[in-house]
Amino acid sequence: METISIGIIGAGYIGREHARSIRLIRTMFGDKVKLVGIADINIDAAKNAARDFEIEYATDDIDAIINDPKINTIFSCVPTKFHFDVISKAAACGKAIFCEKPFAISPEQAQQVHDLLISTNTPHQIGFVLRYAPTYHAMKQLLAERASESKLRTIILRDDQVFPIKGISHFTDWRSHAELAGAGVLIEHGIHDLDLFEWLFGKITRVSANSKNFHGYVGIEDQIEIRMEFENGVTANMIHLWHDIAAHQSIRHFEIFFQQSLVTSDTYDMHHITVRNSVAESKFERPDLYRMIADQPLFKDIAHREDLVFVSDYYAIQDYWFVRNLLENKPLSPTIVDGLRAYKLAYACYDSAEKDGAWVATA
Ligand SMILES: NC(=O)c1ccc[n+]([C@@H]2O[C@H](COP(=O)([O-])OP(=O)(O)OC[C@H]3O[C@@H](n4cnc5c(N)ncnc54)[C@H](O)[C@@H]3O)[C@@H](O)[C@H]2O)c1
Repeated sequence: METISIGIIGAGYIGREHARSIRLIRTMFGDKVKLVGIADINIDAAKNAARDFEIEYATDDIDAIINDPKINTIFSCVPTKFHFDVISKAAACGKAIFCEKPFAISPEQAQQVHDLLISTNTPHQIGFVLRYAPTYHAMKQLLAERASESKLRTIILRDDQVFPIKGISHFTDWRSHAELAGAGVLIEHGIHDLDLFEWLFGKITRVSANSKNFHGYVGIEDQIEIRMEFENGVTANMIHLWHDIAAHQSIRHFEIFFQQSLVTSDTYDMHHITVRNSVAESKFERPDLYRMIADQPLFKDIAHREDLVFVSDYYAIQDYWFVRNLLENKPLSPTIVDGLRAYKLAYACYDSAEKDGAWVATA
């Protein structure tokens, strides 16, 4: 594509995040990238975003954006149930699509989204933003170093978040309705971790899970504990929970045990990693992580633009690469194939939870 002209559908938390990111990075592409329109059924939300992020127009008519001939790229940022509608219409008009995870409210709908994007050969990317987070690229590098020294034994992840309904940074409650969200914390939030785990540690072969519902929203688990095994026999434990501890927002806490070292990390905004072995404890703070990955292809060309893209700003980094790869006709990543894989992993966990934690193969 020679130019990218963007329409955003949904002006809530993530729609605004993409609008903010594109507004930052577009100056790196001269006049080749434009923020043309934004739609939301809540017209005030659309107008506010247009004002805040210098978008040419706002509307409450979704079809007006999708059918606008000036727009060739659609960002789908609506509650999960509505992605399919946006994607189908945008693909039918031949637009490129950035679709937020988890992109469907059921495995059947997830398969439909997959088949549609593949059969129409639509250029697309799925919002597994952690794949663009400098911390995890640095972590991958540190893990490779540790793995050359001793065997990886086991991984523990606790991923907790204030229940994102009407809290400090979320102002809508669709995540408490199964017909809009599909299910609870795992499909809505933990799907990032399932994708990240296979990216970091390899293929997951089987899972065993137990879920709980403390808040009482029907069909919305707010705690799920998962045991899993990777192809190489390594095991992991994950726990995902939505809580009401406002002073403790959203933290991913990793403990990665090798025979001779332990890698730990707490990642909220940015992020640190600690490595302990038999002789020392090394702490890698933000600048250290930055230095570790600055020469990697994903970050090299933007490393000198910290005036625009803060190194911890993985949404902006993600959107930079989406736009750049579209302009250069290069492959986009992650795709719906990755998306469907993570979706199936999540549903294998739900399947296991229904069978009281029985092991379920993940094919
Ligand atoms: N990748 C990430 O890190 C990330 C983070 C947050 C949310 N998400 C995903 O993004 C999607 C949106 O989440 P959010 O947090 O922005 O929700 P949100 O409730 O903050 O925003 C959604 C917006 O869509 C509007 N809307 C509702 N139905 C609509 C429709 N049919 N057409 C147009 N607009 C409509 C709402 O008025 C609201 O302004 C979800 O699928 C969520 O899972 C991804």
